[in-house]
Amino acid sequence: MPNAFDNMDRMYRFQRYFYDFTRKYYLLGRDRLLTEMQVKPGERVLEAGCGTGRNLIILAKRYPETHFYGLDASAAMLETAQVKVDAVGVRNITLKTALADDFTFDKTFDLTQPFDKIFFSYSISMIPVWRECIQNALQNLKPGGELFIVDFYDQKELPKPFQTLLKGWLKKFHVQFWDDLMPHLESLNTDNNLTITPLFRRYSFIARFRKS
Ligand SMILES: C[S@@+](CC[C@H](N)C(=O)[O-])C[C@H]1O[C@@H](n2cnc3c(N)ncnc32)[C@H](O)[C@@H]1O
Repeated sequence: MPNAFDNMDRMYRFQRYFYDFTRKYYLLGRDRLLTEMQVKPGERVLEAGCGTGRNLIILAKRYPETHFYGLDASAAMLETAQVKVDAVGVRNITLKTALADDFTFDKTFDLTQPFDKIFFSYSISMIPVWRECIQNALQNLKPGGELFIVDFYDQKELPKPFQTLLKGWLKKFHVQFWDDLMPHLESLNTDNNLTITPLFRRYSFIARFRKS
């Protein structure tokens, strides 16, 4: 019975070679998130579902005093990511094959303390167990730590034909905006710690949540 590791490897076995080139035109909002995260020296920052490492490499170059961690269900994607990390010569990135709903800071990454920041960039929309991923991320964040998500939104302010076309296209890649994601995030927001910023007429969004 294929599991999430096998499924992702199958999906990305060939795509990983042209992934970065094609995705830059439609995974919108990623660069804005990387800027808005306000990473500080000495922090531990994790990307869950880091794919080819595109975001981590930008951050690692920008913040050489910070250590970045990436996990992904696809060992094939991480193989490509590691080649890219080695090619640019950054030393502050650690990559592990793991599931976003199942990792722990100590067992998966051999750390003694939880993360300062954890982010999901266009991965939540392809993970059916997204609630468990969010819960697990919060468990692996220190108090006061921050969780970020950038992903597809509901496109409600875009023309209807565009919405239909995009939804059909995303379905081919097993990607969708989960209708109950925003209510779920709101339900966690007991201390007014959540901001959701819609981008590009609700094409995508950035969510920022600070753990109490
Ligand atoms: C659309 S890609 C986004 C990659 C990267 N975050 C970016 O912004 O370019 C989604 C990634 O999530 C990974 N993924 C899917 N399900 C996962 C899971 N359950 N746990 C960890 N990673 C997962 C996929 O293997 C893929 O690399």
